[in-house]
Amino acid sequence: MSDAGLVTTDIERALRCLRAGGLVAIPTETVYGLAADASDPAAVRRIYSVKGRPTGHPLIVHVTSLDAARDWAAEFPRAATQLAEMAWPGPLTVIVPRAPGVLDEVTGGRDTVGVRVPAHPMALELLERFGGGVAAPSANRFGSVSPTSAADVLDELGDRLDPAIDVILDGGSSPVGVESTIVDCTSTPPQILRAGAITPEEVHTLLGEVATASGPSRASGMLASHYAPRCQVLLADDIASAEALAEAHRDSEVLDRTDELGAYARDLYATLRDADRRGVPTVVAVLPPAAGLGHAIRDRLTKAAAPRRR
Ligand code: TXA
Ligand code: MG
Repeated sequence: MSDAGLVTTDIERALRCLRAGGLVAIPTETVYGLAADASDPAAVRRIYSVKGRPTGHPLIVHVTSLDAARDWAAEFPRAATQLAEMAWPGPLTVIVPRAPGVLDEVTGGRDTVGVRVPAHPMALELLERFGGGVAAPSANRFGSVSPTSAADVLDELGDRLDPAIDVILDGGSSPVGVESTIVDCTSTPPQILRAGAITPEEVHTLLGEVATASGPSRASGMLASHYAPRCQVLLADDIASAEALAEAHRDSEVLDRTDELGAYARDLYATLRDADRRGVPTVVAVLPPAAGLGHAIRDRLTKAAAPRRR
């Protein structure tokens, strides 16, 4: 797809877009987000229409610091403070009681809000200069895998963004590659809603008692197949069974980076996109052990493999 002037590295231009109520696709260390001024209801509503996302799904507010995050919360539970001090800037979102002024468009009408400080220098500089918070879901069409590069965003949303008012800020490939860990700090004990690069073990060590949503993460619209590529994804517990499955599926490819989980996570969505681009009908993915970053990879693979209607 031609970029039609959407993609830029010009932070000043992105800042002008945000201030004028436009949308800015921002690079973060996890995945690219589709950001709008979190205090501008019309701009936030446009996020939903551009993504094709049902309203009522809450958005994460991105800010530059724990202090800034406090402005969005009615109260910052101790667990949220501990998590923020450990992980920010970084791939962690805390759910806290929302401050009275936070828009319903952002929280989906809930009495809680998700906040995070992303660890990408361009995102941080943009936020610093903007001075406020930006609401940003992942910058993909609803139901599709998250983008981890500016080119992916262009593929997903290029025909839905308006170069006169919107921009895609190119900050290179997202180094983490999967969405942030989400911890709901409004419940006792706190509950991990989505696994990510801040591992369940780290959260557990820091906080002591922690609840974990069983099965694939509960956060994302609660749909079974939220991270679906076009290709069929089959899961295997080890390379031998993956190869046996691949044998039985014509033109399938095996995905196994269980030797290097950081690279597995970083390249996961890009690999699925690439398989789609090449028309690969089936990807057989080897599940990593359920430990550390393996939890997040298993979660996203399980979702990509979930039955879906297309
Ligand atoms: O890494 C990330 O978190 C990326 C980057 C752009 O920051 N963002 C992201 O946003 O993955 P999104 O909207 O695609 O996923 C956020 C998830 C959604 O499933 C949403 O339901 C959940 O977080 N969420 C947000 N606010 C919430 C709240 N107040 N209560 C419960 N879940 C919430
Ligand atoms: Mg998403």
